[in-house]
Amino acid sequence: MGPTILAIESSCDETSAAVIKNGKVLNNIIATQSVHENYGGVVPELASRAHQQNIVPVVDEALKTADIRKEQLDAIAFTKGPGLLGALLVGSSFAKSMALALDIPLIEVNHMQAHILAHFIDDPKPAFPFLCLTVSGGHTQIVLVKDYLNMKIVGETRDDAVGEAFDKSAKLMGLPYPGGPLIDRYAKEGDPTRFHFPDSDIDGLDFSFSGIKTAFLYFLRAEKRKDPEFVEKNLSDICASLQFSLIRTLLMKLEKASTMYGIQEIAVAGGVSANSELRNTLETVAKEKKWNVYVPQIQYCTDNAGMIAIASHYKFLSKEFSSLYTSPEARMKI
Ligand code: KG4
Ligand code: ZN
Repeated sequence: MGPTILAIESSCDETSAAVIKNGKVLNNIIATQSVHENYGGVVPELASRAHQQNIVPVVDEALKTADIRKEQLDAIAFTKGPGLLGALLVGSSFAKSMALALDIPLIEVNHMQAHILAHFIDDPKPAFPFLCLTVSGGHTQIVLVKDYLNMKIVGETRDDAVGEAFDKSAKLMGLPYPGGPLIDRYAKEGDPTRFHFPDSDIDGLDFSFSGIKTAFLYFLRAEKRKDPEFVEKNLSDICASLQFSLIRTLLMKLEKASTMYGIQEIAVAGGVSANSELRNTLETVAKEKKWNVYVPQIQYCTDNAGMIAIASHYKFLSKEFSSLYTSPEARMKI
C-alpha cells in the first residue's frame, strides 16, 4: 500500500490541492485567479492575497471529495519553487503548519520536475530515458529524464519563455491575460502562412524568444500606421502566423535533441503543452520521425496540484523529506 498525500500548488496564479493515494491521483482542485486578466500579466501581490483566500476552501474540497480525513494522511507536499516568492510562501507556510500539527513528513517539490512527472498520472506513460519539452509561462526547457527523480536540463531559453512570448504578443494585440489560450483559439480560423515571423535559431539546444517578440512589436507598429484597425481585421491570421513560428522553433530544437541523444520517447509538459496546434504538429512529426509522443491531459498541463501529488509520491518512496521534518527514529536519538 503506497502513501496518502495531500499536495498543494501555489507558485503563480492557480491555488490548487490534490490527494494521491497509493500512486493514484484522486482529485485535482484548482482555483484560477481571474484578478490578473486586465493587467496583462500576473500581479504578484494580488496573487498572494488570492492564494490566502483560496487555500483553505481548496484544501477542504480536496480532502472532502477524496473522502480522506486529515488523520489518514501520511505526508503533506508543496511546491517549493520556482515561482513568485509571496505566492509560494502561502502554500509553503500552510503545508508546514499542517504537517507540524499532524506530525507527519513534509515533502518539497520542484515545480518544473512536477510538470514532467505529470506524465505518470495516467496511461500511457513514457519509458526512461525520455526527452521532455517543458513549456510554460516562466520556462522553456528540454529535459533528459533518466528516472523519476533523475533529470538533466539539456537546453533552455536564454531570455523569454515561450508562454511569455504568447502572452506578451497577445497583450500587444490588446488581448487579456493569459493570451496563450486566446491565440490558440483565434489561430484555429486563421492562415498560418499569411505573415512571416523570423525563427530564432541559436546554437545548440537553447532557445531565444525575445527576437520574435520584438519583430512582432515592429510588425504591428508598421501595419497599424497603415491601417489603425489592422489587428481587428486580421486577428485570426496574425495569431495563426505567430503561433506557427513559435511552434516551428520548439519543434526544430526537439528534433535536434532527439537526434543528438538518439531518443524517440518524446514528452511535452507545462502550460503551453495545452496548445492544440502544438499537440497536432507533434502528432504529425511523431509519425514522420517514428517518435512515441506523450502529452498530458489538459488539466495536468497548466499549473495544478495533481502533478505535485505524483512527484511527492515518488519522493515519499525514496524518503526524500524536507529537512524541517524529523522522523520518529531520528527523534529518539536526540
Ligand atoms: O505551466 P503554466 O500553467 O504556468 C507556469 O508555470 O508558468 O503555464 C502558463 C502559460 C501561460 O503563458 C499561458 O498563456 C500558456 O501557458 N498557455 C497556452 C495555452 N494554455 C496555456 N499557450 C498557448 N496555447 C494554449 N492553449
Ligand atoms: Zn507551471
